Amino acid sequence: MDELFSFQDRVILITGAGRGIGKAFAEAFHKRGAIVYGTGSRKESADHMNAFGIQGRVADATDPDAMPGLIDEIMQTHGKLDCLINNSGISSDTPASFFKEDEMEKILNTNVKGVFRACQAYFKAHRKKGGVIVNVASVLGLYGFPLASIYSASKGGVIQLTRALAIEWASSGFRLNALCPGFIETDMTARMTGKAEYKSKAEEGIPMKRIGKPEDLVGAALFLASPASSYMTGQVLIVDGGLTAQ
Ligand SMILES: NC(=O)c1ccc[n+]([C@@H]2O[C@H](COP(=O)([O-])OP(=O)(O)OC[C@H]3O[C@@H](n4cnc5c(N)ncnc54)[C@H](OP(=O)(O)O)[C@@H]3O)[C@@H](O)[C@H]2O)c1
Repeated sequence: MDELFSFQDRVILITGAGRGIGKAFAEAFHKRGAIVYGTGSRKESADHMNAFGIQGRVADATDPDAMPGLIDEIMQTHGKLDCLINNSGISSDTPASFFKEDEMEKILNTNVKGVFRACQAYFKAHRKKGGVIVNVASVLGLYGFPLASIYSASKGGVIQLTRALAIEWASSGFRLNALCPGFIETDMTARMTGKAEYKSKAEEGIPMKRIGKPEDLVGAALFLASPASSYMTGQVLIVDGGLTAQ
């Protein structure tokens, strides 16, 4: 296989890899010969990953000790971690005027602090070797949308975090880029895609006239994780069927 896209024996850690977008990523890297570790917040998620050949671990993004512990385990076992993909995240369609402190805290803790903690743990464990980080943000981190206030703020935070760390850590050989999906059919969007009327309205608004599938993001993730993007850092890659090009 072309060296640019070879993942044979590369060690990759993907958060939220038991379902949805993270699962599609985990399967794609596994299929290409990578040693894939995946996380979830629940034991069932870890068991499910172990069943399809991924090293599944429970590592809650809101637990400050979870990712340092897992990255230590990976370093002790393999002596390296080639790429970290921060994919886990939660959303909400609570109207802004109804948001309560605890829901706001949970989203920001999972989506922003969780990503930061994972990046920091990887950097500390790997600072002499450099590394590659892909942070899954969202087009909602770039553009306004109703009923997405705190989620949008969290994803805008992920994009800015990616840019800032890319600059701070470039001299240590770390590359960080953000991947911004558009509307993708997963559990996260099931409440909308499950209703035919909402689904067709959403599809109508997308230039490619279809909602994306997790597999539609795999090529972009492989690119950002691979040496094919070796001169790219601090950037945002949008994969949305043309939604934000309008
Ligand atoms: N679907 C879309 O349209 C869309 C669009 C733009 C961006 N995104 C982003 O893409 C990423 C994946 O989304 P998805 O659609 O695949 O969502 P999903 O199907 O709801 O999956 C979310 C994943 O995140 C994990 N997760 C949630 N909270 C966690 C926590 N506290 N600790 C560890 N893992 C946790 C879940 O694992 P457990 O089940 O074990 O908790 C699950 O694997 C998210 O960051 C999301 O914001 C999605």
